[in-house]
Amino acid sequence: MTPARVTALLTRAACGLPLFFWAAVALAQLAPEPPSGVASKKTATGQRFMVAAAHPLAVDAGYAVLARGGSAMDAAVAVQLVLGLVEPQSSGLGGGAFIVHYSAADRRVRTYDGRETAPAAARPDRFIGQFGRPVGFIDAVLSGKSVGVPGLLPALEAAHRDHGRLGWATLVEPAVALAEQGFPVSPRLHAVLEWDRWLARDPFAAGYFFDGSGRPKPVGTILRNPEYAAVLREVANGGAGAFYRGGIAADVAAAVQSGGGDMTTADLAAYRAQERAPVCGAFRTYRVCGMGPPSSGGIAVLQILGILERLPHTDYARDPVQAVHYFAEAARLAYADRDRYVADPDFVRVPVAGLLAPEYLAERARLVSADRSLGHAQPGRPAGATASADGVEADLPATTHFSIVDAEGNAVALTSSIEFAFGNHRFVRGFLLNNELTDFSFVAAEGGRPVANRVEGGKRPRSSMSPTFVFDAAGRLVLVVGSPGGHAIILYVARVLVAVLDWGMPLQAALDAPHFGSRNGPTELEAGTPVARLQRDLEARGHPVRVREMTSGVHAVQRVGDAWVGAADPRRDGAARGG
Ligand code: DON
Repeated sequence: MTPARVTALLTRAACGLPLFFWAAVALAQLAPEPPSGVASKKTATGQRFMVAAAHPLAVDAGYAVLARGGSAMDAAVAVQLVLGLVEPQSSGLGGGAFIVHYSAADRRVRTYDGRETAPAAARPDRFIGQFGRPVGFIDAVLSGKSVGVPGLLPALEAAHRDHGRLGWATLVEPAVALAEQGFPVSPRLHAVLEWDRWLARDPFAAGYFFDGSGRPKPVGTILRNPEYAAVLREVANGGAGAFYRGGIAADVAAAVQSGGGDMTTADLAAYRAQERAPVCGAFRTYRVCGMGPPSSGGIAVLQILGILERLPHTDYARDPVQAVHYFAEAARLAYADRDRYVADPDFVRVPVAGLLAPEYLAERARLVSADRSLGHAQPGRPAGATASADGVEADLPATTHFSIVDAEGNAVALTSSIEFAFGNHRFVRGFLLNNELTDFSFVAAEGGRPVANRVEGGKRPRSSMSPTFVFDAAGRLVLVVGSPGGHAIILYVARVLVAVLDWGMPLQAALDAPHFGSRNGPTELEAGTPVARLQRDLEARGHPVRVREMTSGVHAVQRVGDAWVGAADPRRDGAARGG
């Protein structure tokens, strides 16, 4: 897609949210501090373990598992299944996830890919409409064609099989109990329901989220979801496979087909989570590990850090304009490569090693001027490069990230999504279906070249999700981090890493601090924060500047001395709790 279309789309989909939406979200946050480096009240310290996630009820579920001696992966299962209930706009059984796991015993990082797949019948012209033009983004989101075969449960099950200590069925229980007893509608869920214009068209969603007159149920209303509980009971007894066969799979396929999609029960039966090689690289004395393709997150975060390391060290507190300039330029270069080269590695040869090679990063860093923006960066020519790619993903108030460390020092970074807020807007058996296939490029070729991230049957759309670990020079895990935020996730995660590792900010202050960066379009500055005041200075250096809401949802854990500090993003209503 063209940058102009990306901008139009983002404006409509994210920044176009009415002011009352942002006002309600702001009210929903627990006494948020101004994002100016002042510690907020969303932080916690634990001597043995820690969990930080997007909803206090999910945090409590994870805390209870950890307090009983459960592993980080045990807690992750409980947290995710509760999030699918209490934060349904962001993630759930109908979506996908990437799980990054650290095992303290053998100091090994393993990554699990639960990304959605396109149905076997999918073709590269899936999102091409009349007159050969790409269909509108919202039309695609709401169409059955955007639904990918969900991957969350198989990924959770695979990672739990490798790293779980407590029984799978036990870990499903907290979500079952909460679904049956009910939970209060949060201010944030209510605000997103107020903003949404399409969910009430689904009769099942209408009955659950809205009252008799079609208004979103008020904040505090107790929502009971017995259908979700029933699905979870089947999954507790039969494992993830129970979701992919029989009545549940038939209902998912029927809902997708009712929206003009082509997913079949055979597509569901064929789904497999995949273990992928983690991508790791150096940043100063640290080692940073994250998710490889089909996510672009790990590579892009490492490229930003690798380019910054080769530029003069700049501290935001001392010289904010220079710090934003270098960060935005590094990000621009990383996004140019991401857009060109990264897609599903089962379909496209992604030159991971070439993109992260020290000499290549040095070559990219040499393109950065000290005082003049590149404006728009071109992709480089890393070793092994063959592909071409482009695509678009919006930055929306959906998706969720949580970070967990257990008493043995094992850790999980898990980012999970149904893509758009409320995903595809089809509510099946108490969960929402994803629209993750809109993360594919809508066009199959550009400039005469095939696009790497084009739609193909069985392929996984490129993601930006960036669950990340940082290890110190002694090999000790020091940071677990990730965020939602569409393809700005990479900016949020990289900016927080730089704030903690390079500028020495305490974790919560790093989350509270303003966001900035560039996705190889304008240089973006977070609205309503001090960084927005740098607009003129940056424009004087040739940066095309856009001030916008940057609704990250970073939930992170840091080792401080012998303790773990957890922190939650003040822009969402998450929390941290440790023991
Ligand atoms: O996989 C991705 O990168 C996107 N589908 C994530 C979507 C997202 O974060 C929505 N916005 N907050």
